[in-house]
Amino acid sequence: MPSTVLPTALTTSPTAAPSVPADAPAGAAALAVALAIRTDLWADRVEYREASRWTSLLDPADVAPALDPSLHAELHDAQVWLLSWLPGQGTPLHDHGASAGAFAVARGTLTERVVARGTGRPARQSTTDLGAGRVRFFGAHYVHQVVNTLHEAAVSVHVYAPRLTLMNTYRVDGGQLVRTGTERAGVDW
Ligand SMILES: [Fe+2]
Repeated sequence: MPSTVLPTALTTSPTAAPSVPADAPAGAAALAVALAIRTDLWADRVEYREASRWTSLLDPADVAPALDPSLHAELHDAQVWLLSWLPGQGTPLHDHGASAGAFAVARGTLTERVVARGTGRPARQSTTDLGAGRVRFFGAHYVHQVVNTLHEAAVSVHVYAPRLTLMNTYRVDGGQLVRTGTERAGVDW
């Protein structure tokens, strides 16, 4: 997946965080936070790569100890990713297709830019710095960009339910979201 640096103007003018959509999965958020805390389940497998962000799928059996049994049904088709971000590494503006999900910052700080689609009006944008322990959870078709804008490496845990099958990438043009491409599981990652 390509790396994109967040525009400087957005990192220096943070605004209020967006409200949580009604279809955002609280269980995914709970698992992401639990895994961010349970560093013993993943710390020895984290790698950092200069060329691009490092990503790794976590085996459901490995994360089961962090998942409360009451969440098993809600997260039966969930997919869990571990990511590392060196300074300057980040994602393009993207969605997660029909998947809802959550991500929690386990180490360092990540900056999230969220773009809410506008219907007959300009898209609304907000930018938030998320330090270790912070979690964001979101419904399907949520559009955001995540970048490590600081000087310390970061690690995050991402939970998608149902599992991630595609991501559309975007740019903002004339105040509107414009789709620039689609990345598919099994093809692009
Ligand atoms: Fe994302």
